[in-house]
Amino acid sequence: MMCPPEFYDVRYVINPWMEGNVGKAVHTTAVEQWKVLCSLLRDVADVELVPPQPGLPDMAFTANAGVIVGDRVVLGHFLHRERRGEEPHFRRWFKERGFDVLEMPTDLPFEGAGDALLDRAGGWLWAAYGLRTELDAHPLLAQWLDLEVVSLRLIDPRCYHLDTCLCPLEGGWLLYYPAAFDADSNHAIEQRVPAERRIAVKEPDAMRFACNAANLGRHLFVNEISAELRASLEGAGFRVVETPLGEFLKAGGAAKCLTLRLDEPAPRFARATSTVQSRRVRLEGHLLDSGLLDRAMDVIVDGGGSFRILEFQLGKQRQSTSESEVQVSAPSEDSLDRIMSRLIDLGAVVSPRDESNAELQPVAQPGVAPDDFYATTIYPTEVRVDGQWLRAQDQRMDAVIVVGREDNRPVARCKLFRHLQEGDRVVVGSVGIRAVRKTGVRDPRTSFPADTGFAFMGAAVSSERRVELVVERIAWEMRRIREQGGRIVVAAGPVVVHTGGAKHLASLIREGYVQAVLGGNGVATHDIEQALLGTSLGVDMQAGAIVRGGHRHHLRAINTIRRCGGIRHAVEQGVLKSGIFYECVQRDVPFVLAGSIRDDGPLPDTLMNLVEAQEQYARQIRGADMVLMLASMLHSIGVGNMTPAGVRLVCVDINPAVVTKLSDRGSMESVGVVTDVGSFLNLLVQRLRKLESEPVSVRVLERMAA
Ligand code: ARG
Repeated sequence: MMCPPEFYDVRYVINPWMEGNVGKAVHTTAVEQWKVLCSLLRDVADVELVPPQPGLPDMAFTANAGVIVGDRVVLGHFLHRERRGEEPHFRRWFKERGFDVLEMPTDLPFEGAGDALLDRAGGWLWAAYGLRTELDAHPLLAQWLDLEVVSLRLIDPRCYHLDTCLCPLEGGWLLYYPAAFDADSNHAIEQRVPAERRIAVKEPDAMRFACNAANLGRHLFVNEISAELRASLEGAGFRVVETPLGEFLKAGGAAKCLTLRLDEPAPRFARATSTVQSRRVRLEGHLLDSGLLDRAMDVIVDGGGSFRILEFQLGKQRQSTSESEVQVSAPSEDSLDRIMSRLIDLGAVVSPRDESNAELQPVAQPGVAPDDFYATTIYPTEVRVDGQWLRAQDQRMDAVIVVGREDNRPVARCKLFRHLQEGDRVVVGSVGIRAVRKTGVRDPRTSFPADTGFAFMGAAVSSERRVELVVERIAWEMRRIREQGGRIVVAAGPVVVHTGGAKHLASLIREGYVQAVLGGNGVATHDIEQALLGTSLGVDMQAGAIVRGGHRHHLRAINTIRRCGGIRHAVEQGVLKSGIFYECVQRDVPFVLAGSIRDDGPLPDTLMNLVEAQEQYARQIRGADMVLMLASMLHSIGVGNMTPAGVRLVCVDINPAVVTKLSDRGSMESVGVVTDVGSFLNLLVQRLRKLESEPVSVRVLERMAA
């Protein structure tokens, strides 16, 4: 089936090829090129014509009229309004010829054989989604045509139809352009078509529409292609006929687009199958203000899925929230699960209509979760148990949720794999789980959410002036926390000492601003080296010069502490008289030192059993109001994993990558400061002193707390 290009032209832009080509198609040349193609085809096939229609310039591309299997046709239903006018003409034509015409619901675009191609050997239908055709159309194709549909996702806008980048050839060959598809789709192709039957096209040929070839038996009609590609096609036994179609390339089409095969036989052993799965999710909150809806859509599309908004209720006032119900589809159960768990992290509720409880599966082997476990995030999470939403205890990331009974009441608790016991019932799947995400209302002045009280700035801060401002805020917050008997935990690396920050951190401890110190063998060793010998890793901290023999200093420090039997003993014996850890011992501030493979010594206090160290870190973090992460990627990440959302996080590092990694918790309660940690601590101590000398108005403190 072809349609003479009498009214063909580029009149609008609905694909990248048409851009810059509006009004540029040369009519006489187009007609000439079309006629040549038509007569070439007539040598090997019958060509039937559809009468062209004025005002429908793309009607020459009959591939989009529908997909045909036997005497059935599923009519094309265009995404773009510009082409919808073609539908009644094609419908009439098919009906007049006795086809059984099936039609997609209006909200499901499906662009016919442009996006659905029968494999010539396998009997399945390759169907595309992602750009024009909606994924939800695929199960209908399977059902209506009674065949297996393989869903492929298009990701390159230049290859907006499947027939621009994939062409099943007689004998089970497949001509295709791999870069047009996502990884899962490439995998699906590779699983079905053996390597020796795949002819992968390179970009230059793909961009000349080499895959848009009309194949009839051994004959292949195509726009000009490279000699290399021609040779491999001939090697596969095809008779390649190149015919120029440049005028049609201007609208984004070539040989295959200009034709639709009418005698498409139904595959012999077919059976309706499609692996497309869909589920409903519900989103609530400041969907537009906070960008949540945007992010949810990105999660779905990036995950290879597709969505339809079934309902949307817009909160009209700045404070009022919106609600939306979205149908999410994905090409397989697996990819849908992946998308679902990411949507849950954003606060979505899966299958909101069915009031199902969370699915629980027992632990069969101690320390091992059931495969389908739900992995936790830092956000408060609730699971539905006996029809009630239950808040999980001990929230942290990368754990699983165990539902059990304590004091005869159901309790949900985050547990690490290693704490799982046989019979523990673990939450699996995605139904009956919700993460509670407080999304902020936009503050009209700052564009930051206004309801976070302490308006930390989300992004990493680095310019000097902004560092000062942020330190000022951190000082206020620390003051408030101390005033209210709260808990500030410091995670510190050795750089704190190297940069001269030890004395400042020590004074923070002395003044009651620190309730626990977390670190490793390094920070303690160098702090003690400085206290005992005045150097940090052999560098004199006063003169800034390398001290002769200084490379041994940290070992001498370790040895001294080992002789004393530990840091506390060294303080009690009067050996250790200053520094961070001296102050910890003096003020009874607990510290935990987690060991690592590179540790010298180690100090007797360093825990070389890392499971034990993790447990002790977690104990100190519990109930923290603020965590200061000072120049240690290792210990800061460890701490970040254990810290639930809602705790103020301050991450200071000279390396922006570390700061971004740690302060990017999708919330406004964390702040990253890219600066030298020594000067940060210096500034912080100065600010706190200044605050102390000023009488603090209770009202101000209260306002900060609110
Ligand atoms: N301008 C038309 C469009 O963008 C070209 C269609 C080409 N047809 C095809 N099966 N690839 O819809």
